[in-house]
Amino acid sequence: MPEVVPRPRLASAVRHAMQYNPIAVLLGPRQCGKTTLARELAKDSGATFFDLETSADQARLQMPETVLGGLSGLVVIDEVQRMPGLFTVLRPLVDKPGLKARFLLLGSASPELVKGVSESLAGRVGFVDMSGFEICDVGSEGQNRLWLRGGFPRSFLAGSDTESYQWRQDFIRTFLERDVPQLGLRIPAAALMRFWTMLAHYHGQIWNGSEIARALGVSAKTVRDYLDILTGAFVLRQLQPWHENIGKRQYKAPKVYVRDSGVLHALLGIEKWLDLFGHPKYGSSWEGFALEQILTCTGTRQAFYWATHGGAELDLMLIRGGKRYGVEFKCADAPGMTKSLHIAMDDLGLERVWIVYPGQAQYDLAPRVRVCPLLDCISELAAV
Ligand SMILES: Nc1ncnc2c1ncn2[C@@H]1O[C@H](COP(=O)(O)OP(=O)(O)OP(=O)(O)O)[C@@H](O)[C@H]1O
Ligand SMILES: [Mg+2]
Repeated sequence: MPEVVPRPRLASAVRHAMQYNPIAVLLGPRQCGKTTLARELAKDSGATFFDLETSADQARLQMPETVLGGLSGLVVIDEVQRMPGLFTVLRPLVDKPGLKARFLLLGSASPELVKGVSESLAGRVGFVDMSGFEICDVGSEGQNRLWLRGGFPRSFLAGSDTESYQWRQDFIRTFLERDVPQLGLRIPAAALMRFWTMLAHYHGQIWNGSEIARALGVSAKTVRDYLDILTGAFVLRQLQPWHENIGKRQYKAPKVYVRDSGVLHALLGIEKWLDLFGHPKYGSSWEGFALEQILTCTGTRQAFYWATHGGAELDLMLIRGGKRYGVEFKCADAPGMTKSLHIAMDDLGLERVWIVYPGQAQYDLAPRVRVCPLLDCISELAAV
């Protein structure tokens, strides 16, 4: 592998956001490669960099209007969650006629978590979400490594599975002990660790706040706060439920996933392939991994799961171009058609369904239903 692994899909998403907005914001978890990507993008353009993690750059931005107002070209402001007040300054600045600068802001916490940001920037910002390496970066030959180790570059590129596992254990500790407090959140690291580990065991299940609160011996409000923090820092994903008007009782709570499969495995003590194959979470690990890759690589924001109390369900429903598509995740060698899928197709009016499994062969199971590898599902979805 070259020293910096190229990430063409992501780079063009950021370029696109910068082209159409005075401010582009690139958001992703700690250590996913934000700074590296910004440096690659800025390579030939003589950009100005501010890193708000350093006190020198914080000092340089003590009078932000004056300093930023005088710049031209690309201006990258890294670790922007450290100075949320900046957003209020940027607004009048980018509204001025004759603006010569374009801003690329990098951050590792969602606007909902950093108070005031979303309101002060509405309409002027192009948001791009990123996570670690994607299957489109590493190709099908990198799929198993990506699944086991997750996408954080240091974890993916580590010399061995053991080193990679160790890196993720350290990442989790640093995140809890340093990054969360830096967001101004006073949560004991040990409590958040217990919560995160428990969620790893609930990975891919429907959120049941009161059950988790009971198990941890804290209030339902406290576990809700923990969930929001880990979601806002991009380490958990909440997949919202779809509700269809069909007179059937349907589930209303989100499903919760640990976003990075490598972090999931670190929380579950899965270090090597053999640990993963034998593990009771093998199937839900595949589901979470494939789901995350599909959402990231196709950039689909309208994504839901669907489940009725009668037992019919669909792992993932995507809305693209006004049409509905379904994805099921299976770990079997040769997945077949199920009654539940027939019901989902009828009740939801799905255009097409992919059954995504770790195997290599592709075949049609029924009209509009295809069994295929992950990358094929992604490229077919990207084309609709
Ligand atoms: N495309 C890449 N190819 C190879 N290594 C990478 C790539 N992107 C990031 N890395 C490595 O991963 C580590 C984290 O990258 P980087 O500092 O860019 O992430 P970040 O998201 O800015 O992290 P933080 O939130 O902690 O600032 C670094 O060691 C970097 O060299
Ligand atoms: Mg960085």
